[in-house]
Amino acid sequence: MKIIPFPTDFYTYHEPSNKEDLIRACKKAPKDKDQRFSWGKLSLSQRERIDATEIYNELIPCIEEFCNDLGIKSVGVKVIDAWRNVYKKGYHQEPHDHSGSDLACVIFLDDYKEDQSTLYFTNMRHWCEPSDVWTNILNVHSWKMSPPRGGVVFFPSHMLHGVTPHNSKKERTTVSLNMTLNVQLINN
Ligand SMILES: [Fe+2]
Repeated sequence: MKIIPFPTDFYTYHEPSNKEDLIRACKKAPKDKDQRFSWGKLSLSQRERIDATEIYNELIPCIEEFCNDLGIKSVGVKVIDAWRNVYKKGYHQEPHDHSGSDLACVIFLDDYKEDQSTLYFTNMRHWCEPSDVWTNILNVHSWKMSPPRGGVVFFPSHMLHGVTPHNSKKERTTVSLNMTLNVQLINN
C-alpha cells in the first residue's frame, strides 16, 4: 500500500522479489575513481561514489513497477550518480534535494533497529501555515520512514528529505541513485 504524505509530492515504496540479488549488487558495487562531492557540507556521513551498473540491472523490476504505477509507458532511465552511505553513531543528513536529476532512489541494506537513523521527507512549503489543530490531524510537516532490508524508495529529486541522527553503535548502510528520465505517457 502506498501512503501519500504531502498534497503535492509523493514517494513510492517497493519490496523487490530479487532483493537478495539487489542487496548483493549494492554491497559489491566497485568504488568510483571520482570521490568529489559538491553537496553534504552540513551533514555528517560516510559516503562513497560507486559504479551502479549491476545495481541498475537488479533494479529493473522495481523501475518497471514504478512506471506502471505512474502510468508511464516507456521510460529511458539513466543513472547519473550513485553512492553508498554508511551511518555511524552521530551521523545525519540535513534536509536537501537532488537537483540536477529527475528521480532519486534509496535502497535500504539493513532492517531498522531502535535508535538508528531514519530517512524522512519534509514539507517546508507549509512550515508556518497550519494551525496546531491541523498539524495534529494531518501529516503536514515531515514523514519518517524505516523500510526493511531490501526495501526501495523512489521519489522526485526536488522533494526535500534528510536523515535523522544515528544513535546506535550498529552501522546502517543505504545506497542512493540519481537518475534522469525520458518518458512517454500511456495515453499519448
Ligand atoms: Fe538525499
